[in-house]
Amino acid sequence: MINRLQRILETRYLGRTAEHHQQIDSTNTRARQLIQDGCPHGTLIIAEDQTAGRGRHGRTWMSSAEKDLLFSIVLRLSLPTERQGLLTLAIANAVADSIHTFCPSLFVSLKWPNDVLVNGKKAVGILVESRMSTSETVFVAGIGINVNRDTFPDELAATATSLAGELGEPIDRILLLAATLARIEYHLEILQLNPDQTISTFLTWLDERFKTSPLRAILYNQSVWEGTFENIAPDGALLLKTFNGITKLYAADVTFSQST
Ligand code: BTN
Repeated sequence: MINRLQRILETRYLGRTAEHHQQIDSTNTRARQLIQDGCPHGTLIIAEDQTAGRGRHGRTWMSSAEKDLLFSIVLRLSLPTERQGLLTLAIANAVADSIHTFCPSLFVSLKWPNDVLVNGKKAVGILVESRMSTSETVFVAGIGINVNRDTFPDELAATATSLAGELGEPIDRILLLAATLARIEYHLEILQLNPDQTISTFLTWLDERFKTSPLRAILYNQSVWEGTFENIAPDGALLLKTFNGITKLYAADVTFSQST
């Protein structure tokens, strides 16, 4: 699988150093270990199955062995602190772009901060973690794409989907991975050269329901904010218009009234 990937990769650095696991606890956890060993910028860790896949807000990420794409990339980027929150938006832009290009018949949109929706349902999860030392900040972007799986646990069935489920035919995971890595490299370049463009691109992908419906944001500490979408701040935060004015949210689970 790595051999085939390397043959078709069009990236400069992403995935040029790569490891593939039949089964692992979590590719994000493995990435952290590799960072300690000094792995290069762009290192890719990919797994066919995860036994302890991690999602945002301490949740578990469930996947289907050999059907989904489960991978993490190590990014040694020098981004100003106030722009680091945009990394998660840049990765979401890249994955949306890649799925849209790869499967043009599917309707792709984004939900802040980084859920990729396909035909209105969540098909991708992105978990960006950072590790700071005195000399640099290193990021791990973990991406789970529901590619070919056909079943979901009952509690997810109404809000989650897979690309093949929507398309009605299976997808070549390695081709999609190669395309996605290339798009990530491109969108990281935009982030570094012109971070405001990362925000404007994100806004073009942002789901219309997010922009127009009442929103409910649940924070890590379980406090709840209700309001409507105002904008994305220059640091990537969500600006929510509430009764009391504009509130700036950095990490929250947002639902809009119609679904998700
Ligand atoms: C979310 O909660 O939406 C984010 C889910 C991120 C899942 C991916 S799968 C590959 C990588 N390894 C992990 O343990 N998590 C991320």
